[in-house]
Amino acid sequence: MVRRCSSAGVCWTLLMGCVFAAHAVTFEVTDGNSTCIKADLNASFSITYNTNNGTRVVVFGLPSSARVGNGSSCGGREVPPELQVSFGAGHALGLVFSSDGRLYRVANMSLQYNLSDTSTFPQSSSTGVETMMTNVSEIFARMNSTYKCVSSSTVSLSARANVTFSDVHLEAYMTGANLSKDESVCSADLPVTTVAPTQTPRTTAAPSPVPPPAPERGNYTLTNTNGTACLLALMGLQLNVTHRSKSLNQTVSEVVNLQPNKTTASGSCGATLATLVLTEELTNLTFTFALNSTTQKFYLSAVNISAFWPDMTDRFAEGNGSLNLLQCSVGRSYMCSAEQTLSVLPTFSINTFRMQLQPFNITSNRFSAVEECRLDQENMLIPIIVGAALAGLVLIVLVAYLIGRKRTHAGYQTI
Ligand SMILES: *[C@@H]1O[C@H](CO)[C@@H](O)[C@H](O)[C@H]1NC(C)=O
Ligand SMILES: *[C@@H]1O[C@H](CO)[C@@H](O)[C@H](O)[C@H]1NC(C)=O
Ligand SMILES: *[C@@H]1O[C@H](CO)[C@@H](O)[C@H](O)[C@H]1NC(C)=O
Ligand SMILES: *[C@@H]1O[C@H](CO)[C@@H](O)[C@H](O)[C@H]1NC(C)=O
Ligand SMILES: *[C@@H]1O[C@H](CO)[C@@H](O)[C@H](O)[C@H]1NC(C)=O
Ligand SMILES: *[C@@H]1O[C@H](CO)[C@@H](O)[C@H](O)[C@H]1NC(C)=O
Ligand SMILES: *[C@@H]1O[C@H](CO)[C@@H](O)[C@H](O)[C@H]1NC(C)=O
Ligand SMILES: *[C@@H]1O[C@H](CO)[C@@H](O)[C@H](O)[C@H]1NC(C)=O
Ligand SMILES: *[C@@H]1O[C@H](CO)[C@@H](O)[C@H](O)[C@H]1NC(C)=O
Ligand SMILES: *[C@@H]1O[C@H](CO)[C@@H](O)[C@H](O)[C@H]1NC(C)=O
Ligand SMILES: *[C@@H]1O[C@H](CO)[C@@H](O)[C@H](O)[C@H]1NC(C)=O
Repeated sequence: MVRRCSSAGVCWTLLMGCVFAAHAVTFEVTDGNSTCIKADLNASFSITYNTNNGTRVVVFGLPSSARVGNGSSCGGREVPPELQVSFGAGHALGLVFSSDGRLYRVANMSLQYNLSDTSTFPQSSSTGVETMMTNVSEIFARMNSTYKCVSSSTVSLSARANVTFSDVHLEAYMTGANLSKDESVCSADLPVTTVAPTQTPRTTAAPSPVPPPAPERGNYTLTNTNGTACLLALMGLQLNVTHRSKSLNQTVSEVVNLQPNKTTASGSCGATLATLVLTEELTNLTFTFALNSTTQKFYLSAVNISAFWPDMTDRFAEGNGSLNLLQCSVGRSYMCSAEQTLSVLPTFSINTFRMQLQPFNITSNRFSAVEECRLDQENMLIPIIVGAALAGLVLIVLVAYLIGRKRTHAGYQTI
């Protein structure tokens, strides 16, 4: 089968010679007066079916007469929200949503098509309704945001049926009647620099084997209710997570920089415990600092991460609550300019860059005097050693010269 899609959204197959223009169609699922799902999307279906003299492939778009089907619901206890789109003579596309409180996603996608509909499936050797389902879908977004994906992406429901989506704007678990202004843009829409543009719909690219450049330094501050700073952190963070790659179907170590301008800081300050929560689009990172009043030192005692990156097979939600890292005296700020690796778990580490932080005893919204990490002290030590060695060398040469001069003087005098 040869199929082409032009940018105008007009698709045709050379086999069928059928031409259609696809338009985005809007669907809304409501419960009483409140809207819970709204979707504006363009979909085309490619289905292989049997005829008496071989198989045929038919490609057709979601017609503008498609409507919200009876299977749709806003869900409730134990029942997930679902959008069912019905069209033609007994065809339907179903999207079942799920949420973990932070992200929502299309958990299951189903397709039902009616082979008895001879105008769509001419000369089909079988009749009746075929139903297929997949729980693999890359449609996910932050809660209270609109999933946006202009690029086309194809979901395989079986070896015989593919659905290609484009120009998708949708939101589930809505709190208002309109799509949220805040958007979660799909990875295919993000600018790519390394991949040459192709005609085929994009699939997820493998994580880059080249580590990303050093991360930008973020400025994260927590304040008390009275507006004074109680935790200060300046740092660039690079996350290194070992997970199962969806695109490669193997375990990979993916290194991702936390982007400060997409990250929000929250958390809490306490007398002996402080937490800093950094939230990026698909990543949630929690640092817990503890204060040991016996030693009068504070330290990083726990790190937790919850991440669902596009190439992950499953959510990566792990943590370690028995850490003792970044030790520093109370009343000081911890500083480490050098790159340093915080090993949290065998499958998760954080590379820190140009770090300065203070989770306790901040006065007048500023860092206190610094206590430098060992790496920085060692880095400082090298120039000192080199300098001392050079100074020693100069001294030796000078002494040798002076002694030599005295000797020659003495020599002249004896003659
Ligand atoms: C829906 O809105 C109408 C008019 O605004 C109101 O009378 C009705 O009670 C509402 N129904 C629900 C279930 O909120
Ligand atoms: C199958 O049969 C139809 C009509 O009977 C014919 O038009 C078509 O060319 C045939 N296809 C093949 C692959 O033989
Ligand atoms: C399938 O299509 C046939 C022919 O158009 C129609 O009679 C039948 O009702 C359809 N089945 C369903 C479940 O809609
Ligand atoms: C989404 O918005 C609702 C209402 O504004 C709010 O109660 C809820 O906490 C928000 N959820 C998230 C994850 O931000
Ligand atoms: C999705 O489908 C799988 C497999 O049939 C099922 O176990 C799961 O409960 C479904 N999830 C939802 C949210 O419907
Ligand atoms: C702000 O509140 C913190 C504790 O909540 C307190 O230690 C501090 O003195 C307060 N600062 C001002 C300026 O009131
Ligand atoms: C990421 O972690 C893996 C496994 O621990 C390690 O081999 C790799 O060098 C790390 N990469 C970076 C850039 O830290
Ligand atoms: C992924 O790899 C596992 C074993 O390494 C294999 O069982 C599975 O079928 C593979 N899945 C895909 C989609 O290739
Ligand atoms: C974030 O920072 C990068 C690099 O400075 C910049 O290119 C990008 O536009 C910024 N994004 C936002 C949402 O501000
Ligand atoms: C504080 O540090 C001392 C000495 O390292 C240790 O024995 C003690 O258990 C620590 N206390 C807490 C609460 O961690
Ligand atoms: C948590 O960190 C501690 C200290 O680095 C380490 O000994 C321990 O093995 C880690 N826990 C896990 C589950 O890896």
